[in-house]
Parts: sequence; C-alpha cells; structure tokens
Amino acid sequence: MEKTFIMLKPDAVQRGLVGQILGRFEAKGCKLVGMKLMKVDKALAEQHYAEHKGKGFYEPTVAYITSSPVVAMVWEGKNVVVIARELMGATNPANANPGSIRGSFGMDISRNVIHGSDSVASAEREVALYFKPEELCDYCKAG
Ligand code: CMP
Repeated sequence: MEKTFIMLKPDAVQRGLVGQILGRFEAKGCKLVGMKLMKVDKALAEQHYAEHKGKGFYEPTVAYITSSPVVAMVWEGKNVVVIARELMGATNPANANPGSIRGSFGMDISRNVIHGSDSVASAEREVALYFKPEELCDYCKAG
C-alpha cells in the first residue's frame, strides 16, 4: 500500500495545532502507520532538503527545522501522496486553498506548518530517512 511522509513543523507543534492537523488526515480516511515527536539534527535536515541545496531558502529552512521538535509521521492509503498534498494545500500558505491545512493555519512560506512528500519516490526516500522499518505498524484500520 502507498505511504507518504508527513512532518508537522516546529510552528505547528509550538502553536498547539498537532491534534487538529492529525484529525484532518484521520477524518479523510488515511491510515496512521508511524509517528514520533523528535528533534531533527542538522545532518538529517540536510539530507531531507538536499534537493534545495544552493537555493536562498535552504540554510534558513535547515536552521528552522532543527530549531524545535517536529512530529514525523507516515500515513498509508490508496493514492495517499496526492491526497495528502491536497489536504496540505500549496507550499506557500498565501496561495493555499482556505480549506486546506496551510490555507487554514499559515501565512508565511517559511512557517508553512507542514511538509509532505511530493511523489511516491520522495515518500519512499523520506520515510526511510526518518523511520526504521520496525517503527512502522501493520494493523487493520476500521472504516
Ligand atoms: P517544504 O514542503 O518543507 O519544502 C521545502 C521548504 O522550504 C518549504 O516547505 C518551505 O517551508 C521552505 N521555503 C522557504 N522559502 C521557500 C521558497 N521560496 N520556495 C519554496 N520553499 C521555501
């Protein structure tokens, strides 16, 4: 079954938005198979954002993501990568649909509340960066 990597960024944790955001994924019907509250170290952040190295926002993004705990998650479901991106809305909250997570909770692209894998290939890479296989749970979801 398809999986996606979702990270609630420091702003989401600090603002107490974790429960509300999790609820949107649950209400949609996505299946939670991995989750941890963690500090991201510099090496992990640099691996995560390697494709952006050299861009102006790379260093500030790495600094931000390592500044305070995040909630790292793996959600599972048919087409979950695309579904999660719809739930999140556009990367820049200023352009995000008002009903989406970034549209509801964000104002600023550098504090955009949530990260989600942009493709199935990215999801496989990001899940493996943040989770050991034994940290993912296999169970039957109701509904
Ligand atoms: P994310 O989905 O985590 O992927 C890269 C992150 O870089 C992005 O969300 C934003 O939080 C951050 N970022 C900051 N400035 C920009 C920008 N101009 N373009 C894209 N991403 C940016």
